[in-house]
Amino acid sequence: MPQFPNGFLWGAATAAHQVEGNNINSDLWVLEHVEPTLFAEPSLDACDHYRRYPKDIRMLAQLGFNTYRFSIEWARIEPERGHFSTAALDHYRRVLAACHENGITPMVTFYHFSSPRWFAAMGGWEKPAAGDLFVRYCGRAAKHLGDLMAFATTFNEPNLPMLLRWLPMSEIPIVKVKRMAKQAARAVGADQFGCFFLGDAKKLQEHMIAAHHRALEAMKSGPGKYPVGVSISLQDEQPVGPDSKRDRKCAEVYDPWLQAAGKSDFLGVQAYTRCRVGKKGDLAPEHGSELTQMGYEYWPEALEACLRYANARVRVPIYVTENGVSTEDDERRIEYIRRALDGVGRCLADGIDVRGYIHWSLMDNFEWIMGYRTKFGLVAVDRATQERTIKPSARYLGEIARHNRIANVAVGAA
Ligand code: BGC
Repeated sequence: MPQFPNGFLWGAATAAHQVEGNNINSDLWVLEHVEPTLFAEPSLDACDHYRRYPKDIRMLAQLGFNTYRFSIEWARIEPERGHFSTAALDHYRRVLAACHENGITPMVTFYHFSSPRWFAAMGGWEKPAAGDLFVRYCGRAAKHLGDLMAFATTFNEPNLPMLLRWLPMSEIPIVKVKRMAKQAARAVGADQFGCFFLGDAKKLQEHMIAAHHRALEAMKSGPGKYPVGVSISLQDEQPVGPDSKRDRKCAEVYDPWLQAAGKSDFLGVQAYTRCRVGKKGDLAPEHGSELTQMGYEYWPEALEACLRYANARVRVPIYVTENGVSTEDDERRIEYIRRALDGVGRCLADGIDVRGYIHWSLMDNFEWIMGYRTKFGLVAVDRATQERTIKPSARYLGEIARHNRIANVAVGAA
């Protein structure tokens, strides 16, 4: 593989709720603690990144990376409706400053799945007022942090609810989900609990696309000059049979958000696997295929396919804002990265404007309903001591980042 373009971003990503710990004012914290819950375990201290970020960012830089993608937490910044915490905003100023001190370009996600619990209690994204509240939060945060930001995205994978609608009904424990939502509403003293993963996906999409465009304006009206985009969840959707619903699925799940990204400064592509789509919808992976801890098919070529799909629909620069694999076998992660990057190389050779590769994730973390069992990290985290252990894959990708090329990078190179 030739050299990657000058200025290519090489990074790793995290999300506030998954790594910071004790995100107690968030809707997800509520859902984790009701009975019944879909969550295998609660997030609790997570990776204690809220306190340990200086060392984590230094470690990222020492490994050879030049970019850190992380999210700021709305539930901390606006813990009560209309009350903005200067202490929380100052915390994120320090995180941004730590990036700059280490020569790291910060890419900031304003919303990565979690909302304040008061937002859920008022009905969440389904309510028409949701957009105004989100835009106000974005404006406030951008005003406080904008001068230190290099890139920002409004939403992480806002198309996920639409994607989940394609899961076979048998995979969704509907009764449990309803009981969990009812208990969560009771826990916050409301008669509803509207969170990103629950509710009417079509309504959510409509409200979030409108909010994205307005938030983008609000973010740009503050200090600092930085591109604002949106990160979309993509899968390599492969048709099976002549009556495959693949095209209908893509039109529903990806195209509205790709259009929105096309009117932004950049698109973030996030890809993990492929999905075979038959005449009734998503099919299970073929018998005998290698599966990751998430139950996804091990399919590093998904990234190339998704970049090509996106590139055919948008005319803005593309950054890979997430790509990775959940496995205990770090050699499979190295292989995954190598094959995914070969695909990025082929896209670049064909003139596709890919400007960065950000791996999910910097460290093993709280994988939502799966809890801590699934390992996406380049760095392992001891759950009892919070000790970080660098995996060979971190050194492998770090060396690629340092040299801006794949050739001659030995596996496990220091
Ligand atoms: C999300 C992350 C998640 C990862 C692995 C993406 O959908 O943005 O929060 O941990 O995939 O499942």
